[in-house]
Amino acid sequence: MAEPIILLTEQEIQAKLDQLAAQVLADYGNEEILLVGVLKGSLYVVADLSRRLGPNVKIDFVQVSSYGLEAKSSGIVQIRKDLDTSIEGRHVLVVEDIVDTGATLAHLRELLNTRRPASLKVLALLSKPDARLTEVPIEYVGFEIPNRFVVGYGLDYAERYRNQAFISVLSAEHLS
Ligand code: PRP
Repeated sequence: MAEPIILLTEQEIQAKLDQLAAQVLADYGNEEILLVGVLKGSLYVVADLSRRLGPNVKIDFVQVSSYGLEAKSSGIVQIRKDLDTSIEGRHVLVVEDIVDTGATLAHLRELLNTRRPASLKVLALLSKPDARLTEVPIEYVGFEIPNRFVVGYGLDYAERYRNQAFISVLSAEHLS
């Protein structure tokens, strides 16, 4: 059976999270941060990042429905699970596994900004600049990757492979 094409090893991912967490801590100082994970893909980033950020962190989640590429590129996204708490006056850091077309993030930024947070920033482990259809700011980017279908570390193919500790390019063996 063919070996998976590994794009990012577990060690590379974890080392990048060390760097990102250090930047976040330096930028926010003693301010309390509300991490807003975008389900489901961000679950490992939220888990591993939050453990590096110390006690001044709270965690909430949103889930956004996607209706396939066409709907995404048209910007039609809906909230399936909203935040549990108010973000008014709080420092919100949205956490994504990947920004692809940018539609999800553009919509989320617009929605969350209407709720008057003290600040709103985004951290994405992966970004695919070549897939972008909607330009959207991302304050903290882990890795810029080519426009390939990748799985692992939260990213799925038909709900599988999220639990790989590494990120690989979807290959024939994943499809079997
Ligand atoms: C993925 C990813 C982002 C979104 C990015 O989620 O986690 O939320 O797509 O794509 P975009 O930039 O083209 O909008 P997905 O809808 O696959 O759901 P999942 O996280 O539950 O797998």
